[in-house]
Amino acid sequence: MGPIEGAWIRSPSRRQALVALGAMLAGSPKVHAQLDPRSLKGHRRVPGLGEMMTAFDFEPICFANMPLRLYDYMAHGGDSEWSIRRNRQVFDWVDIVARGGVSPEAVDTTTSILGLEMDSPLMIAPSTRHHHLHPDAEAGTYRGATAAHVPMIVANGPSLPHEEIASAASGPRWIQFYPIPNLVLSRRRLERFQAAGAQAIVVTVDQQATRFERDLHDRHLGGNPTSESERVADDEDDEEAPTSGPELYGLPVPGRLWYNWEYLDQIRAFVNVPMLIKGILTAEDARLCVDRGFDGVVVSNHGARTLDYVPSTLEVLREIVTEVDGAIPVLIDSGFRRGADVFKALALGADAVCLGRAARWGLGAFGARGVERLLQIVQMELREAMAAAGCLSLADIDATAVRMDFP
Ligand SMILES: Cc1cc2nc3c(=O)[nH]c(=O)nc-3n(C[C@H](O)[C@H](O)[C@H](O)COP(=O)(O)O)c2cc1C
Repeated sequence: MGPIEGAWIRSPSRRQALVALGAMLAGSPKVHAQLDPRSLKGHRRVPGLGEMMTAFDFEPICFANMPLRLYDYMAHGGDSEWSIRRNRQVFDWVDIVARGGVSPEAVDTTTSILGLEMDSPLMIAPSTRHHHLHPDAEAGTYRGATAAHVPMIVANGPSLPHEEIASAASGPRWIQFYPIPNLVLSRRRLERFQAAGAQAIVVTVDQQATRFERDLHDRHLGGNPTSESERVADDEDDEEAPTSGPELYGLPVPGRLWYNWEYLDQIRAFVNVPMLIKGILTAEDARLCVDRGFDGVVVSNHGARTLDYVPSTLEVLREIVTEVDGAIPVLIDSGFRRGADVFKALALGADAVCLGRAARWGLGAFGARGVERLLQIVQMELREAMAAAGCLSLADIDATAVRMDFP
């Protein structure tokens, strides 16, 4: 191409001519007449509550209802997120032995834990910041849980005051507590939780990590979800936001995971209801809980939010149940989504299963009614799994109901 053609191609008059042509076409009635007034481009149909078939169906709706950074705050796991994947993969390593002969209607899922009569061995695991999911926040989750006859464990620092959550519904409610390296503050908080009606206190001895690669990758899409604006309303004892030191840079803070067994003994004196320890992953720690007189353990890896490459809870359940030997109830969470998952944990000796993210998906997708429906689905799936395995009641479920092939 010579210099004259080159100048013509780049000339303003050529651009003007193209713009004029484009405008004419865009304004042309003939072009408009050919456009579909109800184009499918950009159209999305959101399934309704009645169309939800499994807990997994709620997740994309919850996802679509939330900003990405808040969704990722819920979804993230430590480092490479291998333990998140493992928390789900573990269920593929356990088969259910189908024996049949029982109809789902005949199945009885009732149980009793620490004096609490339950319709099914399900609870809602404690998790913070339900206001990310729905304006009703924890009050909505509690209403949904009560409607499905499922007890809720409210997190240490919810988005509504504990007293407000308490007045939202009437079902059984436990409250989770994070160790504070100050006995006066610990006592004050524990007394407040009990005054707000906690029927048991669950002391969590692990904590989520301080930073997550998934969130760091999102920074350019909207910022870090754990910014000051996201601090929860009820953390009255929390210190001021850092202005210097490692926390300012999102680095792990020394002492953040603080607790020791002596402290747990000391706070036991402030608790007049059953006290359970959450975050147990070894038989040795379970033995310590029994010997020190705690009332139950929750086998949990915090939904793989603490440390990557921790084992899934189903893998360590057997050794913990063997060590505890029926002395105290063994609850479990991390990765549970289906009734069949719940069945597998019961077969390996758990007394109840807590749902973390799954319950949140219900709230984020459809509010309280979503929580209720999701819990009903998991309860129904559990009944079906029990019927298929020939188990009429929870007492019929034992280790012969499953075959394990952990790697
Ligand atoms: C967004 C989110 C917030 C959480 N907050 C708390 C908390 O405040 N206290 C606590 O003990 N556990 C907390 N957890 C952990 C849950 O109690 C539970 O161990 C975990 O969600 C179980 O794994 P799952 O989500 O795969 O079911 C949180 C979990 C999530 C997903």
